[in-house]
Amino acid sequence: MEDCTFVIFGATGNLSRIKLIPALYHLDAAGRLTDGLRIVGFGRREWDDAAWRAQVGEWLAERETQPEVLERFLKRLYFFQGDLADEAALPALQNLLQNGDGFAPNMVFYMAISPAQFGKVSRQLGHCGLATEDGGWRRLVIEKPFGYDLESAESLNHSLNRDFRESQIFRIDHYLGKGTVQNLLVFRFANLMLEPLWNRNYIDHVQITHSESLGTGGRAGYYDGAGALRDMIQSHLLQVLTLVAMEPPASMDAESLRDEKVKVLRSIRPIPQSAVNAHAVRAQYTAGTVNGEKAAGYLDEPGVPADSVTETYAAMKLFIDNWRWRNVPFFLRTGKRMAKGNSMVAIRFKHPPQQLFRETQIQRLEPNWILMNLQPNECIRMEMQVKQTGLEMRTETTRLDASYCGINPNQLDAYEALLLDVIEGDHSHFLRYDEVSWAWKVVDPVLKEWAVERDYITGYSAGSWGPKEAGRLFPRQDQYWRNTLDDSDDERG
Ligand code: BG6
Repeated sequence: MEDCTFVIFGATGNLSRIKLIPALYHLDAAGRLTDGLRIVGFGRREWDDAAWRAQVGEWLAERETQPEVLERFLKRLYFFQGDLADEAALPALQNLLQNGDGFAPNMVFYMAISPAQFGKVSRQLGHCGLATEDGGWRRLVIEKPFGYDLESAESLNHSLNRDFRESQIFRIDHYLGKGTVQNLLVFRFANLMLEPLWNRNYIDHVQITHSESLGTGGRAGYYDGAGALRDMIQSHLLQVLTLVAMEPPASMDAESLRDEKVKVLRSIRPIPQSAVNAHAVRAQYTAGTVNGEKAAGYLDEPGVPADSVTETYAAMKLFIDNWRWRNVPFFLRTGKRMAKGNSMVAIRFKHPPQQLFRETQIQRLEPNWILMNLQPNECIRMEMQVKQTGLEMRTETTRLDASYCGINPNQLDAYEALLLDVIEGDHSHFLRYDEVSWAWKVVDPVLKEWAVERDYITGYSAGSWGPKEAGRLFPRQDQYWRNTLDDSDDERG
C-alpha cells in the first residue's frame, strides 16, 4: 500500500466523530496504515494541530484503545482551519499539501459535508489543481445522498466530472461494507447448492427490511427534506437487492460486479405513476412506546415542521423482469421508531409441488426460508421442516444457523473496509454513476406521486412494526413480514 494524505472536509462533524476517525484508528491498530499516512482535518474552528489531536483523543477515549496505537495515530493528525465559503481556502490547502513538508502526493478528499456542497467543493479542488494526478493519485469520496432525485443526481455528476474522472470518484454506500452484505456474494457464488434454487421456479418472494427503533437522532433538518424512501431505499436497500438478485459476474473485478448490479436495476419493472399506491406504502410515526419508554410522534421531534408529511416509513414492491426473477416480488421496507432495530434479507421458498402429507395430522406445512441477518447480529439461517419426535406425524420448523450466528456481533464497522478500499483504489464496493442513476429511476415515480399528495399521511405508533396498510403489498394472504430472526416478532394474519 502506498502512503497517502487523507483529507476530511467536515472533520469536526458527526460522521467524522462517529465513523471516519474510529475507522481510521482501527485500521491503524490492525497495522493497515502505512507510516506516511497523514490525516488532515479541514474545518472552520479556530484550531491548530494540537487542539485537533486533543479533540480526537477525547472522541476515542469513549472507545477501547491501546495507548501506543493512540499515540501513533494522533501524530498522524493535522488540522487545516478554513471555510469552504471562502474562495481562498482551497488554494491555501493546496499550498500546504503540495509545498508543506511530508504530505504524501497521493490524496483522498473525503466529503463529510452537506450534500449541497459536494459539487462546489469538487469544482474548487479542480480549480486549485488538487484534482490533477501529477505525481500522485487523487480520489474523491462522496457520501450519500447522491442527489435528491434523478435530475439533481445528473447535475451533481456533471459537476464532478468536470474535474474528476469516474475512476477518481468513490460514491460510498456504507451498506456495501457490511459483513453480511459482502457475504451475500460468497454465500451465493461459492456454494453450488443454492444456485439451482435461486430463481423464480423455487423462490416465492424476497423481503429486505431495515427497521430502526431510533428516531431522526437530531437530523430532522436533513431527514425531513429526504424521507425514508430517499434515505434508505434508493440507496442501501436497492444495493442489497442488486446483490441478492444479480447474475454471477464474469470476474470479481469492480467493473464486472457493477455491470451485473446495473443489469438488475435496469430490469426492475418501472412503476407507472398511476400504480404507485399498489406498489408503495408510506407512513409517519405517531407517539407510542419504544423499548418500554414513551416516544414522541415525528411531528413533535425537534426541528420537524408541524405540518410535515415526510414519510418515516416506506415499503415498496418491485419486480425484476428477467429470466431469473420474472414475477417474483421483492419487498423493500424501512422505518424509524419501529419496535426493534434490525436489518434482514428474508427469502421465502415455494411449497413443494406435491402435498404428500395432506392426509396426516400435519395441518399447515410451512415453506422454507433463508434469513440473512445483517445487524445487530450477523447470521445466515435456513428454516426447514422436520418431523416432531413422537408417534404422531407432525412437523415443526427447525433452524439451521451458520455456526457464527450469535457469536460474532459486528466486529468490523463497514467504514473500516471501505476506507481501506479507497486507499487501495478498489471500486468494487462503491457505486458507479449508472447504478445511482438507475436507482433513482426506480424510486422517482413514487417520489413524484408522493410529492403531489401532500395533504395526508397514514400514521403508525412508535414502537410498532409499521402501518397495517403495508400488508396490502402482499398479493396473497399467506404472505407476511418477517421482522427479525426471532419469529415471535412476526405478526402473522
Ligand atoms: C444512513 C441513513 O445512511 O443509514 C440513516 O441516513 C440511517 O437515516 C443509517 O439511520 C442506517 O445505517 P446503519 O449502518 O446504522 O444501519
